[in-house]
Amino acid sequence: MSFPQERLRRLRKSDSVRKLVREVNLHPHDFIWPAFVVSGKGRKESIESLPNCYRYSPDELVKAVAEISGLGIQALILFGIPDSKDAIGSSSWKPDSVINNAIKAIKDTYNEITVITDVCLCEYTDHGHCGIYENGKVVNDATLELLGKQAVSFAEAGADIVAPSDMMDGRIGIIRNRLDDAGFDEVAILSYSAKYCSAFYGPFRDAADSAPKEGDRFSYQMDPANKREALREVRLDIEEAADIVMVKPALAYLDVISEVRRAVNKPLFAYNVSGEYAMVKSAVKVGWADEKRLTMEILTSIKRAGADAILTYHAPQAARWLLDEWVR
Ligand code: PBG
Repeated sequence: MSFPQERLRRLRKSDSVRKLVREVNLHPHDFIWPAFVVSGKGRKESIESLPNCYRYSPDELVKAVAEISGLGIQALILFGIPDSKDAIGSSSWKPDSVINNAIKAIKDTYNEITVITDVCLCEYTDHGHCGIYENGKVVNDATLELLGKQAVSFAEAGADIVAPSDMMDGRIGIIRNRLDDAGFDEVAILSYSAKYCSAFYGPFRDAADSAPKEGDRFSYQMDPANKREALREVRLDIEEAADIVMVKPALAYLDVISEVRRAVNKPLFAYNVSGEYAMVKSAVKVGWADEKRLTMEILTSIKRAGADAILTYHAPQAARWLLDEWVR
């Protein structure tokens, strides 16, 4: 059938008809809110490159969690900013690390919310690399033990899911073994499987003060040119028992999300990263885009590409917009 009988505009004629035939709907449950944690009390410090995002002390973070859970968001991912850093990131596996204090504070009040923790060394090392750094190189196998220690420490504090973002080979297997040996077989692993070496992480590194002091991350994070390699990363992580796989960043990698979605039957998340968020915020600031439409279009496209959930700094605002729409 073709024109004039077939007219696709019939189903675009009103908002209510469009909603009936919409293929992808966003829900606050789709979002995972990233939060930065510092030590102390009463701290809520703004981050210049990430408008409306803050570095929270645990008590302030609990207030923010009350707010986001009231908006229907039911998961968050924590990034720690320690008071002191050293060559091996040892502040990340202390029982009273910034992350552990935050997990306990949240779980004391909101047991139901899913707490995910980023597992990586770059926020905790003085050189800013994601592993042990010797003679200008990041050493793979020795780093694995440290990641295992970190993951077990977060699990002891009550983390529901640990999310390795370091991109060392073999980390998922080691972390799974260390968690199981310590009795945490119920703690899940969300692997940053296809994590690209991206210029979109700039604002995050400001926020976490985690940029490498020398060199770059090209020897461990993926080359932006490679898609087949993403499938190899994902398959290896699944063989090593990753429960959820992830593609990061999201917007410049929608083709990778969609390919991974087709290739595997595990849950797939995508990380709408700091630079993607900052681009929206800066375009809106100078009046070049409508914030709500731009944000919702981006998040919809990430879900349409195949992501089951999206880690995004837009989470609270996007959830507010969705709720406003439903009550109308
Ligand atoms: C830690 C980590 C990074 C991000 C998440 N975990 C930074 C990096 O790899 O340099 C980036 C997140 C973002 O940009 O929003 N390795």
